[in-house]
Amino acid sequence: MSHLLVTGGAGFIGSNFVHHVLSHTDHTVTVLDKLTYAGNRASLDGLPEERVRLVVGDITDTAVVDPLVAAADAVVHYAAESHNDNSLHDPRPFLDTNIIGTYTLLESARRHETRFHHISTDEVYGDLELDDPDRFTEQTPYNPSSPYSSTKAGSDLLVRAWVRSFGVQATISNCSNNYGPYQHVEKFIPRQITNVLRGIRPKLYGKGENVRDWIHADDHSSAVLTILDKGVIGETYLIGADGEKDNKSVVELILQLTGRPTDAYDLVTDRPGHDLRYAIDSTKLRSELGWTPTYGDFASGLAATIDWYRANEAWWAPTKDGVEAFYASKGQ
Ligand code: NAD
Ligand code: TYD
Repeated sequence: MSHLLVTGGAGFIGSNFVHHVLSHTDHTVTVLDKLTYAGNRASLDGLPEERVRLVVGDITDTAVVDPLVAAADAVVHYAAESHNDNSLHDPRPFLDTNIIGTYTLLESARRHETRFHHISTDEVYGDLELDDPDRFTEQTPYNPSSPYSSTKAGSDLLVRAWVRSFGVQATISNCSNNYGPYQHVEKFIPRQITNVLRGIRPKLYGKGENVRDWIHADDHSSAVLTILDKGVIGETYLIGADGEKDNKSVVELILQLTGRPTDAYDLVTDRPGHDLRYAIDSTKLRSELGWTPTYGDFASGLAATIDWYRANEAWWAPTKDGVEAFYASKGQ
């Protein structure tokens, strides 16, 4: 049995990871989360108190971070400012949390020789043409487009430097776009699901032709546990489940699964610098560590996600109007 420090464990992917760890291992967990607009205590409801503790605090605060890292067998670092559209509006929190926060955690991991796993994104690689036969691999050069992805790229490079310069026992994973329960309604899939549930037409940026490579958050969690268990220190692993879809197809599927006409959406102002396509080749993780995803069918994963949002309106309703007002102010 191990004790994990999970930063950002009250956010979307972090909370899915905590639920996954609780049901698939006997580890105990401390969540360190600032509970920004994106964090929600309720995402940890129902978990056994003797195995999960929430500490509300900032990963840039050494006094908070240091004793928690010292007490952990491993740190799994999810905490971040995570939304591209927010990073275009106000980049500063992205620098503070993604860069200084990661630095603060790495310094503690170095002091206490604590195993560290850094969660990152495929967006550090920039984007691909729609017809490019290649996908991102661990060898693809970094080429981030937005304040969000550039600060994530910077945080990855800090981890690599702390491994090489100071011997920190760290691994890195870069995952594609996640979907599933507990995702903030600012993000694409929950925004469109909750729009439909509220009788609002889904909003597609540009022509809806941009492609994302979707993976269920639970598959991301199993991949991270696999890397914690078998990953080689200093290595990077790409996580993906061969789930490429253009945004228009995703909206049409949401409309179909909710019994609406599949053309009942609006095309709205595009995102500046909008990355065209992401696609992950996860061969290394599969062949070297033996991981495989379990959510093979996107349509049934999406249907289950729609059911979750339908059943958990109390979780998302308090944030919905504010998010829509923000988008409306930008013509989106
Ligand atoms: P999220 O925005 O839903 O959650 C982020 C969490 O971090 C929130 O609970 C927030 O309160 C917390 N947090 C923010 N700043 C903090 C700080 N200074 N101190 C402590 N806690 C803080 O994000 P998410 O979508 O769950 O993403 C989690 C991680 O996964 C991020 O590192 C992100 O880059 C990465 N990632 C996300 C995706 C995706 O599709 N969402 C894909 C690949 C990688
Ligand atoms: P998002 O969930 O913000 O993730 P990311 O920017 O990290 O990929 O957006 C996913 C895709 O959906 C992206 O191409 C932007 C697009 N999008 C829309 O078309 N409409 C929306 O309302 C939002 C929020 C995103």
